[in-house]
Amino acid sequence: MQFRSLSVCSSDPSVYAVQIPQCMQFRSIVLTTNEGFVENIIKPAKTSMGRLDGKVVVLSAAAQGIGRATAILAAKEGARVIATDVNGELLKELDSVAGIETQVLDVLNKEAVENFAKSIDKIDVLFNCAGFVHHGTLLDCDEKAWDFSFNLNVKSVYTMCKNFVPKFIAQGTGGSVINMASVVSSIKGAPNRFVYGATKAAVIGLTKSLAVDYVQYKIRFNNVCPGTVDTPSLRDRMAAQDDPEQALKDFIARQKLGRLASADEIASLVIYLASDESNFVTGQEFIIDGGWSI
Ligand SMILES: NC(=O)c1ccc[n+]([C@@H]2O[C@H](COP(=O)([O-])OP(=O)(O)OC[C@H]3O[C@@H](n4cnc5c(N)ncnc54)[C@H](O)[C@@H]3O)[C@@H](O)[C@H]2O)c1
Repeated sequence: MQFRSLSVCSSDPSVYAVQIPQCMQFRSIVLTTNEGFVENIIKPAKTSMGRLDGKVVVLSAAAQGIGRATAILAAKEGARVIATDVNGELLKELDSVAGIETQVLDVLNKEAVENFAKSIDKIDVLFNCAGFVHHGTLLDCDEKAWDFSFNLNVKSVYTMCKNFVPKFIAQGTGGSVINMASVVSSIKGAPNRFVYGATKAAVIGLTKSLAVDYVQYKIRFNNVCPGTVDTPSLRDRMAAQDDPEQALKDFIARQKLGRLASADEIASLVIYLASDESNFVTGQEFIIDGGWSI
């Protein structure tokens, strides 16, 4: 049994001999007299361990959606979170969250990534979350769209890993890198996701290669592969359709569980991969898609 506090009230401040059954644990025991507060005889102590206590988590695309949910959950689990995004205005909202520091970072800017990596003293977890969903088939995808998608969804993961993997190696304490893929990738095709599917398949291949090359340093690399997640950009994609209500129904229908995922549900999987609970897991793609791919 766990109680938050026990207040002992007595007119006699010498009443210290309170019988407390052994099965009861308190975070504080406050002895009070008629005159008021006397003493908290238990020093406030952290009773529950966070799953990421002591870890430094760095992530991209933290201003909204899955990145934002992950930043908040990681901080709640005890991590020191360095949350980055290209959108400084939106990112500011995280400044008030205990455990989160924010930093504007455009993952397409090689120099900015290099300087950012240099500014980080310690890192235990890197979550490469930034990505863009291009809508269309091969015939809708010109070279500019192809290059933009590959630059943001794949090359940025390369740039981040290129700058942070040497830090993990130098630290010599292993680490966890989580790369955002999608079930729309090498796992599954979806209509109008031509270049998107190609980029996310590339992320899975890249992650497996890194996992093999750096397993000796105990640096783990894994992919998260969500189905359809209710995030601001998904809402934008729906709003861009001729019939947004039908678009929502169609997005929901893809998941056999009959709903969209929440960003928090994806964040929970990222926390598992970030934590020591997954210390024996590397080089894998984790499908979290409400049964879309079964
Ligand atoms: N939402 C889904 O249904 C879904 C499904 C599978 C995978 N994903 C992937 O999850 C990731 C996050 O998507 P989401 O829907 O949660 O978020 P989102 O698309 O709503 O937000 C993306 C965030 O990325 C930031 N960003 C964009 N360009 C950037 C850049 N150059 N540098 C740094 N940050 C940049 C944006 O400012 C924004 O805050 C993406 O990689 C996406 O492909 C999403």
